[in-house]
Order: sequence, then structure tokens, then C-alpha cells
Amino acid sequence: MKKILITGGAGFIGYNLALMFLKKKYKVHLIDNFARGVNDNSFLSLSKSKNVKFFQIDLLNFDKLSKLDRDYTYIFHLAAIVGVKNVLRRPYDVLNKNYLLLKNIIHFAKKQKKLDRFIFFSTSEVYACTLRDFSIKFPTPETTKLSVGNSFEARNTYMLSKIYGEAMCVHSDLPVTIIRPHNFYGPRMGLSHVIPELLKQAHETKDGIIEIANTNHKRTFCYITDAIEIIYKLTSSKKTLGGTYNVGDEVNEITINQLGKKVIDTVNKQIKIKSINIDNDSPKRRCPSMLRTNKVVKYKMKTSLNEGLKKCYKWYSKNVFNSKEVSSI
Ligand SMILES: NC(=O)c1ccc[n+]([C@@H]2O[C@H](COP(=O)([O-])OP(=O)(O)OC[C@H]3O[C@@H](n4cnc5c(N)ncnc54)[C@H](O)[C@@H]3O)[C@@H](O)[C@H]2O)c1
Repeated sequence: MKKILITGGAGFIGYNLALMFLKKKYKVHLIDNFARGVNDNSFLSLSKSKNVKFFQIDLLNFDKLSKLDRDYTYIFHLAAIVGVKNVLRRPYDVLNKNYLLLKNIIHFAKKQKKLDRFIFFSTSEVYACTLRDFSIKFPTPETTKLSVGNSFEARNTYMLSKIYGEAMCVHSDLPVTIIRPHNFYGPRMGLSHVIPELLKQAHETKDGIIEIANTNHKRTFCYITDAIEIIYKLTSSKKTLGGTYNVGDEVNEITINQLGKKVIDTVNKQIKIKSINIDNDSPKRRCPSMLRTNKVVKYKMKTSLNEGLKKCYKWYSKNVFNSKEVSSI
């Protein structure tokens, strides 16, 4: 039985990756320190599954990794300081800790005897400064030259840590694949992302108004189970060794205002949108070119945004909005 290790395994993507690899009959080992992911009922039940082992350790502490095995087939590195609020509050930690987390897991990966692939989760934010300071192609290909912007801006630290991380992986002599996720969404993603934030506002509004920032910005959204299937196919292909791949939806680009209207339809209430201005340097547009990824995976998305929003609303209503259980940040 093949074995995989996921760092950040209690988080949004890590949890869903674990479910997928379990289904494919892998042994799944997870590392998390619950800095952001939470030990809710979903995670508890996952961690008690027969082929799952959970290590509650801080990956910053390299010595703790001695408890783990030496025969992983895949290592997925997802643990990182993420989220705009965290990044603005702790920019130095983002640079320092994201680097140290990656350095530790690369060092650990080099001790492995059967490693087929080391998968690093980068971000779509790597394109943000190029978009802001120069011109960029839409949909955006992985070959886009990356600009690193101004080091005085706290928000840039996340993107800097990921670009530096990509370069570390490429030069690590490990069999690497780099993933650049573009706006995955779904149940159990916490509250500090646009979709759960809007669902919460629409669910709770008393005056029939929801406030939305950056209504003219454009995004595409990719439902988590589609994203996970694409990532599974990408990382199990020999062709992707050494490559960098966008993962997201190239086709269904919408404005944040249109997203707000879809959220209102989902919640099924009479609600008006109040557009507010928040200058948080959020990229005005984000849309991945999936050409390179599609050449390998040939995947047709299964969950439309309308369906995905319904699934999210159902889950958030039950587990967060109308529940006392701690359910992700
Ligand atoms: N969700 C997206 O659409 C998206 C977009 C771009 C990039 N990414 C990248 O994908 C990865 C996973 O994202 P996510 O949305 O699942 O984030 P998440 O915050 O839900 O998961 C990250 C997990 O890492 C854990 N962690 C942090 N520091 C740790 C430490 N020192 N030791 C052990 N565990 C630690 C957290 O507790 C959390 O559970 C991240 O690296 C992120 O940068 C995600």
C-alpha cells in the first residue's frame, strides 16, 4: 500500500486531499498544529479512519519529524501562513516561517527512500505584482514573468514567500511538482474568504443589505472536489515531474458583484448590495490559463458555481451559522 504525507492536513485543501487519497487506497499521514485548521467533527472522523495517522506537531520544529516514516511515495507541502488578515498582521512571520516550514520539509523529504514526488502548493498571488505593475495576459499562463513588487508592502510577503519557495523546490534536487491554486472554494474553508464571508452576511443580514468590497474585480472559482481531482491526476502523471501548473477554472470569469448576486439567489432572500471601497491591493483580475494542465489531465469540471454555492450554503448553515461547534476559523 502506497503512503502519502500531507503537511497542513487539517486545513481546507489538505483535508480534501486526504479524503481523495484514502478513496484511492493510500495510507495517509497528516501533519498539522491547528494554527488555522481545526479539530472539528469532520477532521476527527478523518483522523480516526483506518488508514490515516495524524501527527499534531509544529512543522517549524524539525526534530518532531523524527516520529514520521521514511517511505512516503508523495509528500504534499501545504502548511503555510495564509489569509490576507494574517499576512497584513504578521508579514515578517510570513517570510520567515513559510521559508522555515518549507526548508524543514525539504530536508525531511531528502531522507525518504521511495519518494516519487514532492508537491509544493504555491499560489495564484505570484502573478499579482506583474498584473499591478505591468501588463499580463488573461487567462494567465504559468510562463508569465513574475514581478516581486515593493518589499515595503506587507501584502507582498505572502507572494514573495511562495515565489522563493518555488525556486527552493526547483533547486532542491527533489522530484518536484508545483501547483498554483486559483480560488478554490467549498465547505470547511473557514470564514475569511469571499464566498463564505458573503454567504454569512446574506444569511445574517437584518436590514436586507450586504456590503461588498471591490465589486468590479473579476475572479474565477473552482469547487474543491474538482480541484482535488485535477491535482490528483496532475501529481500521479510522470509528465508533470519538474513542472509548474495552474489549477482553477479558466472559463467562468465573473465580477465580485455578480458573485454577490449569485450568493443572494442561493440564500433566497430580498437583499441589496452596497458596494464599498477597501483599498487592500487585491488583484483586479485573476484567471488561470489551464492549457498546460489540461494537456495532462483532460478534466471536465463537475460542479458549477451555482451548485457549489448551494453545497457551501447547506454546509455552512448546518455547521457554522446555526451551530455552536467550532468549525474552522
Ligand atoms: N485555498 C486556496 O484557494 C489557495 C489559493 C492559493 C494558494 N493556496 C495554498 O494552498 C495551501 C493550503 O491552503 P488552504 O486553503 O488549505 O489553507 P489552510 O490555512 O486551510 O491550511 C493550511 C494548514 O497549515 C497548518 N499549519 C500552518 N502552520 C503550521 C505549522 N507550523 N505546523 C503544522 N501545520 C501548520 C494550518 O493549521 C492549516 O491547517 C497553502 O500553502 C496556500 O498558500 C490555497
